[in-house]
Amino acid sequence: MTFHVLISDPLSEEGLKPLQEAENIEVVINPGWNEQELSDQIDSFDAILVRSQTQVTRALIEKASNLKIIGRAGVGVDNIDLEAATENGVIVVNAPNGNTNSAAEHTMAMIMALSRNIPQAYHALKQKQWDRKRFVGVELKQKTLGIVGLGRIGAEVAARAKGQRMNVIAYDPFFTEEKAEQMGVQYGTLEDVLRAGDFITVHTPLLKETKHLINKDAFDLMKDGVQIVNCARGGIIDEDALYDAIQSGKVAGAALDVFEQEPFTEHKLLTLPEVVATPHLGASTVEAQEVVAIDVSHDVLRFSQGEAVRNP
Ligand code: NAD
Ligand code: MLT
Repeated sequence: MTFHVLISDPLSEEGLKPLQEAENIEVVINPGWNEQELSDQIDSFDAILVRSQTQVTRALIEKASNLKIIGRAGVGVDNIDLEAATENGVIVVNAPNGNTNSAAEHTMAMIMALSRNIPQAYHALKQKQWDRKRFVGVELKQKTLGIVGLGRIGAEVAARAKGQRMNVIAYDPFFTEEKAEQMGVQYGTLEDVLRAGDFITVHTPLLKETKHLINKDAFDLMKDGVQIVNCARGGIIDEDALYDAIQSGKVAGAALDVFEQEPFTEHKLLTLPEVVATPHLGASTVEAQEVVAIDVSHDVLRFSQGEAVRNP
């Protein structure tokens, strides 16, 4: 019997080869269907592979009478209704390790772009302004990086920040002080991290508990002139509170890769010169995209052959 797989977001071609080369698997790649078309077609598929664009909603899952497995080529599964998947007996697998390095590197690029005003200076120079005074930056050496969420990416960011001779303090309720010390990272409460950071970067999932974790009260605790980075998920930082904190001068700069609503074309934070932004590019490297696509492809393949999934 043929196992039908839909790839509904752009995924690495190389990474899809295990599925395409397998016998008894038919793969439909990125047909560009809109929500309605996807809903009309979904019940012909046994598996759907997504990145972060496709919203695998309860309505879609309930319509998908043949769906057995959802593969997420990446970490965050917040675009998948997990409750609906469980209720309908649909397995969800992701690729939690494949893009860790890329996301950590992107975070460091954002911190460095912020500290040296690189995007703003580039933009001014493109406008034919040779302005050296306006773009005086700060060194990272001996500055404190506050990390909220010391998981895979947070830990990689910590290691890289130490390479920049930064002091690192981190908060993660599921981490121990001992483990943090082994990494050369100071362990503190959320409040400690918010108070200490010259730069603060968040690396938690978006959960009920982390929604607007960085809100007005959190900004009030921070140092004046703090710089904020979010390469994790939109919504961990309250965007209205961030906007106000930048306007008031409390926050000197923010680097954002992720937003509460994505995609967008208009965003009030982007009107502020203190904000550096990228359109959710943290995992967008050739290497990461290949690995996450290979990882989920192998899991879907294993599943189609009656083997256990590994969620590598
Ligand atoms: P992870 O699960 O390895 O780490 C998350 C950490 O957050 C865990 O250690 C967990 O204990 C901690 N945590 C949970 N609740 C917390 C709380 N209330 N306060 C502080 N810490 C808390 O995940 P990861 O692979 O490191 O990914 C981190 C985030 O980055 C996720 O949101 C993921 O979706 C996102 N991400 C974004 C991109 C991108 O393209 N921008 C790429 C990869 C991952
Ligand atoms: C993830 O959670 O893996 C990221 O958002 C990366 C992505 O899907 O592009």
